[in-house]
Amino acid sequence: MLSSKSNGLFVWFLKTFNLKNEAFAGRNSIAFRQKFMRYRGNFILGLTSVFMSILLLSCAAHASLRTVYYDAPLSPYFENRTLTIVLISDLHSDIYGKDQSPLLRRIIELSPDIIVLAGDIFDDIAPPIGTRLLLYGIKKALPEIPVFYVTGNHEYDSGKADEIKQELSYSGIKVLSDTYMPLEVNGIPLVIAGVEDPNIQLWDPLYDPSSAGKVFKAISGIDAYKILLCHRPEIAKHYTDYGFDLILSGHTHGGQIRLPPLMNGLYAPGQGLFPKYAGGVYKTVGGLIVVSRGLTTRRPMLPRIFNPPELVVIRLNGYTNLKDD
Ligand SMILES: [Fe+2]
Repeated sequence: MLSSKSNGLFVWFLKTFNLKNEAFAGRNSIAFRQKFMRYRGNFILGLTSVFMSILLLSCAAHASLRTVYYDAPLSPYFENRTLTIVLISDLHSDIYGKDQSPLLRRIIELSPDIIVLAGDIFDDIAPPIGTRLLLYGIKKALPEIPVFYVTGNHEYDSGKADEIKQELSYSGIKVLSDTYMPLEVNGIPLVIAGVEDPNIQLWDPLYDPSSAGKVFKAISGIDAYKILLCHRPEIAKHYTDYGFDLILSGHTHGGQIRLPPLMNGLYAPGQGLFPKYAGGVYKTVGGLIVVSRGLTTRRPMLPRIFNPPELVVIRLNGYTNLKDD
């Protein structure tokens, strides 16, 4: 006699392979069923192996670094002007190829006007060599290009956030610590602002979480295209009233597992399951938020599935075509 569970498996087998139950009536049926049950372990193992192979091949095909482009509008006043921003996020000190050369080459070929580092560039476990190779490589190859940085949670988790900020400042990178900076690039007046990651409060009990908002009040009076760097996209909503046209974030690692177009990310810290801001471009009050799926392939320990590491490029122009992948 077959248990109801085993009989269910047998019926599923018949249906899957389009076999008629009647064909296995009588003595043939008993013999076949007994044979099936004897080899059911091999059958399940074979099926699982095929499924895992397909999954692994699909993961491998989606594992290599990709460049993602978003086109966003400037004011029509700047119809003939463009601005290319390269967004680097969540590197976690990973190293691509020899001395970061594939990543560096890709950034240089993009001819950015501005480079932004949206946090978790360093890691609290991995040594900083990967990040240093990339940043000093950028400063050497593109010395005139302004580079901006905000902290992520892992820089604070490392306990070395102040040293990191100091090191970056010395190397000419502009650290935006609850502050902003007006500048003009390609004839376009800009304001670039940045907020501290909330993990600063783990180290500085006197830190005032409302300090960024107080500083950003002054931005509303400036006539410029306004960009905010904010490592965690889920807290960007606290700053949408300050008139930012574009908010650039990371932190989510694309929600780790994706099934596009069905599921844009399974889990992200701070947002939980099926995160709203897993990665991509979203409309906010009066502007856009672009969330990078990040560059690390090692953190956290879970593999990235259908979720390749990415370098993000935002092309601002006078037109209004908004594209996501
Ligand atoms: Fe993060």
